[in-house]
Amino acid sequence: MRSSSLSLAVCGLTLALAGCGQPPEPKFALNAKTTALTPAAQQLVTEALVENFGTPNNLVAWQELPIDYGKAIAGADAAHRQLDGWRLKDGRDLYMVHCLHCHGVAGDGNGPTARFLNPRPRDYRQGKFKFKSTAGGTRPTHDDLMRILEEGIPGTYMPSFALLGKEQLDLIVDYVRWLSMRGEIEEGLAIELAQVGLKSSDLERTYREKKAEDKTITLDAVRDELLAEVKSSWTDTVAEKAKDVVDFWNESNNPENLVVPQSKRSVADAESIARGRALYLSKENKCSDCHGPAGRGDGPQTEQFSAIDGASPARNYDQPGLRDAWGNVIMPRNLTRGVYRFGRRPVDIYRRVHQGINGTPMPGFGKTLKDEQIWDIVNYVLSIPYQDGTAPMAEDVAGAEAVPETASR
Ligand code: HEC
Ligand code: HEC
Repeated sequence: MRSSSLSLAVCGLTLALAGCGQPPEPKFALNAKTTALTPAAQQLVTEALVENFGTPNNLVAWQELPIDYGKAIAGADAAHRQLDGWRLKDGRDLYMVHCLHCHGVAGDGNGPTARFLNPRPRDYRQGKFKFKSTAGGTRPTHDDLMRILEEGIPGTYMPSFALLGKEQLDLIVDYVRWLSMRGEIEEGLAIELAQVGLKSSDLERTYREKKAEDKTITLDAVRDELLAEVKSSWTDTVAEKAKDVVDFWNESNNPENLVVPQSKRSVADAESIARGRALYLSKENKCSDCHGPAGRGDGPQTEQFSAIDGASPARNYDQPGLRDAWGNVIMPRNLTRGVYRFGRRPVDIYRRVHQGINGTPMPGFGKTLKDEQIWDIVNYVLSIPYQDGTAPMAEDVAGAEAVPETASR
């Protein structure tokens, strides 16, 4: 007892000596693509980010971006609601409390808790989201993100935040969209500079090549020349990247990108389920290659070696398994459990099969299968948890009325 109270006292003293002032100021961590650049090129990216996005404690509301930053509200109760950008700041405060420890200050999916989790928290900085009602790589709608926050992602550590209420969730959603746009612009700029030859590793190679021709040339001269070329059009480059990102996000509101079934769901009778099962096992669709013949998520592809995305020369990971867009091992869903990450309504499963799951190896079948065939597959998938003879739940066998006409959710 004595020794433990002594160690407590020592600990308290250490804390007191270390100072009990403010925690260190939060920072937006740089993308690895940015830190791979030469210091001067990194500085170009950092300056553009600070100018247009500010720092975590001193945010800038860049008006080009399709974000509702909050307009001044005359006579609002809280003083800060008078200021432009209050929604962004409130969103940040909520994000820092509820999301940061998993998703990180910059939304890089690298908060302090992240390394203990599988799957890892999403890195928002590529604008890649898995669960949404929109086609392919299109960004999610505001409603999609709201739904993720309200329901969480079942079967993962992403919790539900429904208790925060719609108003607060709305603020957080815009902050996530803003972080995502910020991250996409940073990555776009870093890629641009790397292409010009301003990656530290490439610069040395260019220098060696040039030196072979001209003995007097210096590394600094090679670098300065490349930098001067970039700087002459830098403002335009930043504006162009921003425009691309704005266009991407605006596309998510284009009704043409919403995935809406063209026909009503077929009744989930024994015939439809049998047709769905045949499609599931077929050589063309290869669902069972990943999900396994019985749907346990243990198909042969889970034992193969995946190629490293963008590696040149092409090579595989050392460890077997499917990989997601962030390079992590990913398991196909075990379909016998009946736990789906983005909803168990028939239309949810329809959308996953129609479009695939963005950022993962799960492919889309909307181009190769007819609507009725996808519905047969949906009926089969929803029946898998009951293959042992237990009775399905009423809503899983419900017929066409279970399909909302247009719902974005
Ligand atoms: C305990 C850790 C944890 C916390 C806290 C957390 N998340 Fe997540 N979040 C995750 C994980 C893990 C995933 C990835 C799930 C997957 O890949 O299927 C995720 C995924 C997401 C996604 C991506 C959905 C998609 O379609 O790709 C969004 C958006 C998101 N979280 C937002 C938030 C927000 C906003 C907060 C705070 C209000 C938050 N998360 C808090 C762990 C967390
Ligand atoms: C190349 C491998 C691969 C193929 C082929 C494949 N899937 Fe998947 N599937 C996956 C992976 C990986 C996931 C998990 C993605 C994630 O983590 O969210 C998944 C997830 C799912 C989900 C879960 C959706 C949710 O909301 O949780 C369903 C349902 C599904 N697949 C059905 C199918 C069907 C039906 C087919 C064939 C028509 C198929 N898959 C083909 C790899 C595959």
